[in-house]
Amino acid sequence: MDLFEYQARDLFEKHGVPVLAGAVATTPDEAESAAASMGGKVVVKAQVKVGGRGKAGGVKLAVDAKDAREKAAAILGMDIKGHIVGKVMIAQAAPIEEEYYLAILLDRSNRTFLVMASVAGGMDIEQVARETPEKLAKVPVNSNDGISNEKALAIIKQAQFPSDIEGQVADVLSLLWKVFISEDATLVEVNPLVKTSDGRIIALDGKVTLDDNAEFRHPDHEALVDQGATDPLEAAAKEKGLNYVKLEGEVGIIGNGAGLVMSTLDVVAYAGEKFGHVKPANFLDIGGGASAQVMADGLSIILGDKDVKSVFVNVFGGITACDAVANGIVQALKILGDTATKPIVVRLDGNNVLEGRRILNEAAHPLIQQLDTMDGAAARAAELAAK
Ligand SMILES: Nc1ncnc2c1ncn2[C@@H]1O[C@H](COP(=O)(O)OP(=O)(O)OP(=O)(O)O)[C@@H](O)[C@H]1O
Ligand SMILES: [Mg+2]
Repeated sequence: MDLFEYQARDLFEKHGVPVLAGAVATTPDEAESAAASMGGKVVVKAQVKVGGRGKAGGVKLAVDAKDAREKAAAILGMDIKGHIVGKVMIAQAAPIEEEYYLAILLDRSNRTFLVMASVAGGMDIEQVARETPEKLAKVPVNSNDGISNEKALAIIKQAQFPSDIEGQVADVLSLLWKVFISEDATLVEVNPLVKTSDGRIIALDGKVTLDDNAEFRHPDHEALVDQGATDPLEAAAKEKGLNYVKLEGEVGIIGNGAGLVMSTLDVVAYAGEKFGHVKPANFLDIGGGASAQVMADGLSIILGDKDVKSVFVNVFGGITACDAVANGIVQALKILGDTATKPIVVRLDGNNVLEGRRILNEAAHPLIQQLDTMDGAAARAAELAAK
């Protein structure tokens, strides 16, 4: 999960990283009173999860609270690279003398953490990396060793920070490491880290990505989720504990096991090419124990998707045998009753397949069509979705 700048600022503050006063506002009124409480001279910053806000006109200096109100009115509602601004951060204005760059990230290709540090901050770091790579220090960090105070100082020296501030910057790097590890982040980036005219080192802008796989360790991270941006079907599925991802097509997919579901997506996309390019509408893995309730929950999520025209249930019976799954489907359709209105193509194979198929045949539900092969069922589901 990517955080908004104001959320990153709050996390930084929690761990002692030096930041400026900041408050979030969703209306010009709120912006004005936040600015007034900070003494008037502030920076109004668009809160969108995309880079280059400054260049797009989303970061503006305000001379007083009234001006902050006007700047906020101009920025709220702005479209920055397809992101509509719904919130601004009102940040105390800093007297900037120098702008630097610091980041800690997960370097997947090298299977390590990586610190990037540069005295050429404030601008596009990709450009620095391209045009003046000698100004960007990249230092791998072993996860077992982490960043000791000595290591932090060595990195900052390697990046050629001025000697009078290297100690302060190293302290900030140590604190950012604390944020990175204790919050289970995969990215903590500060651009710019600034030196003010009175010699302070402050994180002026922050980008943080949290590792969703560590969510269970951080109940407090739930509050950071941007509810407005979450797909309502995905939210409903999450509430029911289902592994669901909304996609853009028309064929609803239910399968057991992530690998089988992923190959089902491929097979449906391939079959769909012959039927007006219909595509899978979702990923849904109902896992091993496909009970009637889980099947009903999965079907109701998928049937509730207005883009779905047909459903493909692809199950390979293993520990949960096909007869149990077939009973689950029959029960699920009873639970759903009249709310189930779209054709459902079922392909069962594996453990106890004959009994499973017999149960479905006997139920003779008008919405259900059975096919024996995955390719045949995918083609039928695609054909039905194209009608
Ligand atoms: N609180 C502040 N006081 C003074 N100047 C600021 C403040 N915040 C930002 N600035 C100035 O605005 C510039 C851009 O701000 P910031 O880095 O937050 O946005 P950005 O870099 O355009 O956005 P992104 O990092 O999303 O690409 C900074 O480099 C700095 O010069
Ligand atoms: Mg920035």
